[in-house]
Amino acid sequence: MCGIVGYTGGRQAAPIILDGLGKLEYRGYDSAGIAVSGARGQIDIVKAKGKLKVLDTLTEGGKRLDGLCGIGHTRWATHGEPSENNAHPHCNTEKTIVAVHNGIIENYSPLKEKLVRRGYTFYSDTDTEVATKLVDYYYKKHGDPLKALSEFALHARGSYALAVLFKDYAGEIFAIRKDSPMVVGYTDGGAYLASDVPAILKYTRNIYYTDNQEIVRLSQDGAVFYNLDGEQIEKEYTVISWNAEAAEKGGWEHFMLKEIHEQPEVVSNTLNYYIQDGRADLSELNLSDEYLRGIDSIIITGCGSAYHVGVVAQYIIEDLARIPVRVEIASEFRYRNPVLTGRELVVVISQSGETADSLAALRGVKEHGVKTLALVNVLGSSIAREADSVFYTKAGPEISVATTKAYSAQLVSMYLLALKIAEARGAIDGVYYNKLTSELSALPGKMKEVLENKSAVQKFASEIMDRGDVFFIGRGIDYAVSIESSLKLKEISYIHSEAYAAGELKHGTISLIEEGTLVFGILTQKALAEKTVSNLVETQSRGAYTAVLASESVQCLPKDCKAVFRIPDCDEHFSASLAVITMQLFAYYISVLRGNDVDKPRNLAKSVTVE
Ligand code: G6P
Repeated sequence: MCGIVGYTGGRQAAPIILDGLGKLEYRGYDSAGIAVSGARGQIDIVKAKGKLKVLDTLTEGGKRLDGLCGIGHTRWATHGEPSENNAHPHCNTEKTIVAVHNGIIENYSPLKEKLVRRGYTFYSDTDTEVATKLVDYYYKKHGDPLKALSEFALHARGSYALAVLFKDYAGEIFAIRKDSPMVVGYTDGGAYLASDVPAILKYTRNIYYTDNQEIVRLSQDGAVFYNLDGEQIEKEYTVISWNAEAAEKGGWEHFMLKEIHEQPEVVSNTLNYYIQDGRADLSELNLSDEYLRGIDSIIITGCGSAYHVGVVAQYIIEDLARIPVRVEIASEFRYRNPVLTGRELVVVISQSGETADSLAALRGVKEHGVKTLALVNVLGSSIAREADSVFYTKAGPEISVATTKAYSAQLVSMYLLALKIAEARGAIDGVYYNKLTSELSALPGKMKEVLENKSAVQKFASEIMDRGDVFFIGRGIDYAVSIESSLKLKEISYIHSEAYAAGELKHGTISLIEEGTLVFGILTQKALAEKTVSNLVETQSRGAYTAVLASESVQCLPKDCKAVFRIPDCDEHFSASLAVITMQLFAYYISVLRGNDVDKPRNLAKSVTVE
């Protein structure tokens, strides 16, 4: 999704803005632009199609643009093709009002018609030009930037983080947001805004999370917040504990590889934080035992890998806590008319806490009076703020678009939740509870062992990198790992891949197996392994080239497997945490071998803040 950055203060703005945009590259983009209030009062705009590097070269790292106040943007095209013309910033005809925007103005078409009737003309295909000219219209009407943004909010539907420069207010940035992320930071002598914290973390750790439909006015003196009635509001800032280095590559070839290797530490941090005296201490979540005993079912929702975490958790919670669990894709769930009794707990999983569909699903169930729990990585994000309770994962900033360490932190958090619910409902005895917590404590060490095996994965990746189709199959938790493995491979290698519940393969999909098709079987659930092996053998009989990923003590393997990867034994409820690492490495190495942009795969964005 798009990224925005703004700065005003005592330093040259453009280099700071370009540096910040560089930290938002993970959001995915196809063009970029910058606007700076120049020394003579004019607003200079430079835009370029393609990578940020192009803009960087054009402006000599920002040095060519003088001025102490500006806004910048990386664009992920929604309305109108990626081009210099459609790139942000956009401006009014006189170039006295200039804006950048993240989000989608859903009613941009009627708004545009209205503006055309009032004599406005348009040079681009974007909803952002419409937004800018709508602000222009209301500014001309009221002569006040705050009133112009309030009126904009009254008339624009959709999502936006909109930052605006008004020539009449040199040295100031006015911004407003709704359902698109925007953080504000300050230091002595400067104020910043951005779509995400890493963009400005180098300069300040004091961060304000703006709420929906709040207006912020940034100047050299700091940030002042207003509601839509133009009344000033007091806000508390959060001091970010992680440092800028956590969001840097630190010598690794790619963020993805770095983040894959950070997983033992992330899991260990999450466990150390939430396990106290051998018990899953989730008191921060405010879910009393009495409440957990009173619920009838659990609904888990999310998108992409977050949804996949829900699929793993479904098996574990049902098995350990003996309560029905449903997992729903958020983009579907939000438009269903679900039957809810109010006795459900809805868990929304989201790394960013900003995914539009997950946020909408959360809001939808809240309207039914159902209690919601957010499992979120990004502090102060929309989902975290709107849910009744928040369970923060301790993954730190994740930069690579393809999630790895956030997925692992979510998984382990869901294990803890499963233990908590099982204990509260009296579904497991103390001995088993203790066994499971000690198994959890052993996970980080076992994850390191899996990472040590990476050269074998790399070698196999080089053997199969040119294949056209890959299938991942498994049963139970192994099926849940299959869907994540397949997604990882698709996302970054661009190889077509499918994940199938092993037993379902013969109901149609097996017809796709041809001579040489790679079928990867996942075998960590002993009771189910033989069944999956039979399914693998069926594919071999049709010419498949098979590989397996199995726990150490799983003995039954298909004959003639081209590759066998082992992971250490662990309690089978938790094997996804080990199996997924091999599969992440597999996808990673294939992507590197194929020369792809591993951290920023084509067409994808890390934070999907539009539908
Ligand atoms: C995007 C990312 C995925 C992620 C999904 C949900 O598609 O590329 O890695 O799983 O969004 O994101 P969330 O921030 O809600 O976990």
